[in-house]
Amino acid sequence: MGAADMHVKKIGVLGAGQMGHGIAQVAAQSGYDVVLRDVEQRFVDKGLDGIRRNLGRQVEKGKLAKDVADAAIARVHGTTDLKALADCDLVVEAIVEDLDIKKKVWQELDAIVKPGAVFATNTSSIPITLLAAQTKRRAKFLGMHFFNPVPVMKLVELIRGVETDAATVQLVTDVGAKMGKTVVEVNDYPGFVSNRVLMPMINEAIFAVHEGVATAKAVDDVMKLGMNHPMGPLELADFIGLDTCLAILDVLYEGFKDPKYRPCPLLVKKVQAGHLGRKSGKGFYEYGGEGKIGV
Ligand SMILES: NC(=O)c1ccc[n+]([C@@H]2O[C@H](COP(=O)([O-])OP(=O)(O)OC[C@H]3O[C@@H](n4cnc5c(N)ncnc54)[C@H](O)[C@@H]3O)[C@@H](O)[C@H]2O)c1
Repeated sequence: MGAADMHVKKIGVLGAGQMGHGIAQVAAQSGYDVVLRDVEQRFVDKGLDGIRRNLGRQVEKGKLAKDVADAAIARVHGTTDLKALADCDLVVEAIVEDLDIKKKVWQELDAIVKPGAVFATNTSSIPITLLAAQTKRRAKFLGMHFFNPVPVMKLVELIRGVETDAATVQLVTDVGAKMGKTVVEVNDYPGFVSNRVLMPMINEAIFAVHEGVATAKAVDDVMKLGMNHPMGPLELADFIGLDTCLAILDVLYEGFKDPKYRPCPLLVKKVQAGHLGRKSGKGFYEYGGEGKIGV
C-alpha cells in the first residue's frame, strides 16, 4: 500500500443511487468514514437500506462477520446537507448524468469542501476536464469510474484530466487499492477506454440484428460461446439500459465527430418506443415472470 492515502480518513459520496450507495459501501468496508449525501431524505434512506441489505446478505452467506458488517454501516453517515462534506479528504460524485446539475454541484462543493481535499467524479461520459474547470482545484480533480455492481466489479478506471497532478493520481490509486479494486489509468477522451471499446461493439451487434444478419440470441451466443464473453452484447445492452447506451454513443459521435460512432437506427427506435431493456421489461429480450425471452 502506498503512503499517499494515509491522510484520507473521510470520504464524501454524493448521490445515494445505484452507484453512490455501492461506493459508500466499499469505502466503509475499507475502513473509511463516509458521508453519503443525496437531495432528499428518502433517497438517502434507500441508499442506506441498500448497503444494509448487501452487507446482510454477505453475513447470511457466512462471508462476513456480523460485527464487521455492523461496524461498516456505522461508519456511513447519511445526510441531505451538502455542508456535511466540508471536512472530507476525498469527495466522489455519483449523481445523475446531467451536465448542468453536475457543473452546479461541483461549483458548490468547491466553495464548501476544505481546500486540500481531492475531487473525483464517477461520470460515464462527461469530460473530466470540463467538470474540473468548474473548480479552483483542477490539479486535484479526476475521474474515478466504478462499475456496476460496485462491491463486485474489480475495476476502477482512473481518468486524468488535462491538469490532474501526479500526487492526486497516486492518492486515488492508493484509495482504490485499499477498496480492493484494480485501478487502471487513462486519459480524458470521449468514452475514456471502457465505453469507447464497449459501445461500438454493442452498436455493431445491434446493426447485425437491424440488417437481419442474425437474431439477438444468435449474436449473443456467438460472442458468449466463441469469444468467451460472460454476457452477449445485446444482453449487456439491456442490462446497462438502451437509453444509456444511446446517450454514450451520442457522446462518442459528437466528441470525435466521426461517423463510425453513429448509433444504429434500431437502437434509436427502441429508445423512442420506451423499450429500454431490463428496467422497462423489454429491450432486445423480454423480462417477465418466466425469465428472459428472446424477442
Ligand atoms: N449505473 C451504472 O452502471 C453506472 C456505471 C458507471 C458510472 N455511472 C455514473 O454514475 C453516476 C450515477 O449513476 P447511477 O446509475 O447511480 O444513477 P442513479 O439515478 O441510480 O442515482 C443518482 C442519484 O443522484 C441523486 N442526485 C441528483 N442530484 C443530486 C445532487 N445535487 N446531490 C446529491 N445527489 C443528487 C439522485 O437523487 C439519485 O439518488 C452517473 O454519473 C453515471 O453516469 C453509472
